Amino acid sequence: MSKNNPNQFDVAIIGAGAAGMMCAAVAGQRGRRVVLIDHASKLAEKIRISGGGRCNFTNVGAGPQHYLSQNPHFCRSALSRYTPQDFIGLVKRHRIGFHEKHKGQLFCDDSAEDIIAMLKAECDAGNVSWRMPCTVQEVGKSAEQFRIATSAGEIQASSLVIATGGLSIPKIGATDFAYRIARQFDLKLVETRPGLVPLTFDGKAWQSLTELAGIALEVEVETGVKKERGHFLEDLLFTHRGLSGPAILQISSFWKPGTPLTLNLLPQLDVADTLIEGKGALKKNLGNLLAQWLPNRLAEGWLKINGFDAGARIADMPDKSLKKLGDSLNRWVILPSGSEGYRKAEVTLGGVDTRELSQQTMMASKVPGLHFIGEAMDVTGWLGGYNFQWAWASGVAAGSAV
Ligand code: FDA
Repeated sequence: MSKNNPNQFDVAIIGAGAAGMMCAAVAGQRGRRVVLIDHASKLAEKIRISGGGRCNFTNVGAGPQHYLSQNPHFCRSALSRYTPQDFIGLVKRHRIGFHEKHKGQLFCDDSAEDIIAMLKAECDAGNVSWRMPCTVQEVGKSAEQFRIATSAGEIQASSLVIATGGLSIPKIGATDFAYRIARQFDLKLVETRPGLVPLTFDGKAWQSLTELAGIALEVEVETGVKKERGHFLEDLLFTHRGLSGPAILQISSFWKPGTPLTLNLLPQLDVADTLIEGKGALKKNLGNLLAQWLPNRLAEGWLKINGFDAGARIADMPDKSLKKLGDSLNRWVILPSGSEGYRKAEVTLGGVDTRELSQQTMMASKVPGLHFIGEAMDVTGWLGGYNFQWAWASGVAAGSAV
């Protein structure tokens, strides 16, 4: 096949999101002929809506311990070769203003559009060709190259990178494309499920708690055991349907259906001990005392829901009741009935099994030339900029190798 053929490339990348654009820019700037293919009509919609429109583009402390995977050491190499500082350097070179919001999370000062424009400019610097919007109909492989049948004609390339992400937010174009390609080439998949997602509760069981909707507070939340245990100190939000906020999004990635969560609504205080030991000195009634520690509406609602009289004098209450109240606040055990699903999930857990891939290049060991990057793989970050850091790092790893 002639190099003058406009549909002949060294590298074809399917999916022009975070990982795909990063990979294309790196490969293009190495002098590879690269084409980026995406079915969407609007570029990088997920970056645009991320971080409330300001894109939490990395986390200064990102390391392998912030990722879930059946193969937890896989991400180590790529993360150490392309670090948050490397991405910050790129952002600075493009003069994009940013700030740290909370726990190492970096956000754009203005808009996520700045990150999209930066990645587009980096692709332009690598002379990347585009096919977008463009539907991929079929992928085939001969000894030397991949043949990609698309709505814009057939494309041939010696390397193929799949960067089509996970299943989250189908409304903006998420598909199972990566998993279908993995199956086609006989690569194993790790079962997928929604992650970083609000959890829901049985309607009847939750009914009494709906009056708490809108209340937010910092809590400790945990679930699971041993290696699968998740434990976070983050903000919780009561909603009409259940619980949300960073605490729940974080723990949702560790939560397994049928298992409970344990919440500590007052992590700084052992409530039972404080009430029982201070009983004599605590002249207040229950309602007033709890309102010192918790948002007013939560203090009132919590007592009512748990059958306590807000007007009761603490000094008159039996230790057993005070212990019960303390435990309800320090060890609130609840059983979610499900999650809001891929419609609301920020990420997809599971995906292409990394045991099939090289940790240096992201290439499938069974299929020379075929790479998977970003969220399509079984590497899922916590909330807080970790998922984009994985998209950049895996994109650079493949982009440097193809
Ligand atoms: P990504 O989803 O970015 O890109 C995939 C691309 O493939 C898309 O352009 C899509 O159109 C294309 N595609 C899909 N199927 C295709 C097909 N069949 N044919 C052709 N093209 C196809 N993370 C973070 O670190 N900080 C944050 O602030 C946020 N915020 C956030 C908010 C919300 C609402 C969501 C849903 C997610 C986040 N995330 C996040 C997660 C982050 O957006 C996500 O992990 C990365 O975008 C993953 O990058 P990828 O490039 O792998 O997929």
